[in-house]
Amino acid sequence: MIQFEPEIDRSLFEETLQFAKRQVRSLTEQNPGFYPLYTQDGKWKHDGPAWTHWCDGFLPGMMWIFQRTEAEDSSEKDYWKQKAIEYSLPLEPRQFDRDVHDLGFIFLSTYYRWYQLTREPRLNDVLVQAGKTMALRFREKGQYLCSFVGDDSLFIDIMMNVGVVFYAARETNDRKLRDIAIRHALTTRRYLVRGDGSTAHEGIFDTETGEFLRSSTQQGQRGDSSWSRGLAWSMYGFGSCYEYTRDPRFLQTAQACADYFLTHTNADGVPPWDFQASPETRKTVDTSAAAIAAGALIRLCRMLPDPVKGFYYWSCALKILKSLCLDHTARGDEGWEGILKGGVYHIHKNLGVNESVMWGEYFFCEALESALKFSPVNDKKHLVV
Ligand code: GLY
Repeated sequence: MIQFEPEIDRSLFEETLQFAKRQVRSLTEQNPGFYPLYTQDGKWKHDGPAWTHWCDGFLPGMMWIFQRTEAEDSSEKDYWKQKAIEYSLPLEPRQFDRDVHDLGFIFLSTYYRWYQLTREPRLNDVLVQAGKTMALRFREKGQYLCSFVGDDSLFIDIMMNVGVVFYAARETNDRKLRDIAIRHALTTRRYLVRGDGSTAHEGIFDTETGEFLRSSTQQGQRGDSSWSRGLAWSMYGFGSCYEYTRDPRFLQTAQACADYFLTHTNADGVPPWDFQASPETRKTVDTSAAAIAAGALIRLCRMLPDPVKGFYYWSCALKILKSLCLDHTARGDEGWEGILKGGVYHIHKNLGVNESVMWGEYFFCEALESALKFSPVNDKKHLVV
């Protein structure tokens, strides 16, 4: 159970963001044009497999965040904007990529941020196309957007990507697209989110009948366990669904997941990699799950009708971020190329275990920026992505 932290430590968060910028700058200077996924012994460049290519938006996504934090008309702002464009543009063809279920990760971190800044219609066209491509994964039998592993598979992670379908639906006034997004979220809520707010990583369906067969997992401990990053994706993703639909069921689900996270995580807010991890791996934490959860809580605290609960979520987010800044960054470890240590990608395949992971870096920077920018008490503005 987390011990929350009511006061924001602005200088700690600002210094950590500065450190993040130095690490990203040095990564791009040492390896220009390289989009890493996870480190090996703290180094981004290695021969380890990707398993799936879902992460290329996160490095430019950080650059878009960094340019926002710099003073107007400064050379730093211009530097990060140019870098962000340079690293976002090569992703454009992936608006048609039918091999992954990750088009939200790729385009909401990049083209969405770019479009918010410039309002160039051609950028919006890319986002809309990405949403339409993503919607092609919809299985009428079963009512879900299928994962990259097969037509019979639904992942909790897809809750982070259904937002691009909602976005495309809104921009084009397309009811069918919106329906697909809503039906996907309702299916995920029904089969992957349990009564206690914990989540299964994967659901397996009969593709002939659409019948739900069983819970399963790729990256978690077991089909009936709660993989902590999956839970963090769920709290963030259902919060976004609520922002697009105002359907109270989605806010209730996001809250149930958040409450499970907060009551089961370690006292510093950083969770074990799976809440039901085996005794041998129970001490292995996943800092990326913590960073995603912190970002999700900051968004959720501004959606809740109850200000007391909102303030609790805000305080928990501050505690998680403070723990990450004080105990889990690579500051002081000269050879380590990442920002945040202690992430886990795929424990069973031994990929990126106790390493820096690109999505952990991105969501950490996003949460730090949000915490520095917004106060939950005064600010009811929503951050729709
Ligand atoms: N495949 C998404 C994740 O590892 O969280």
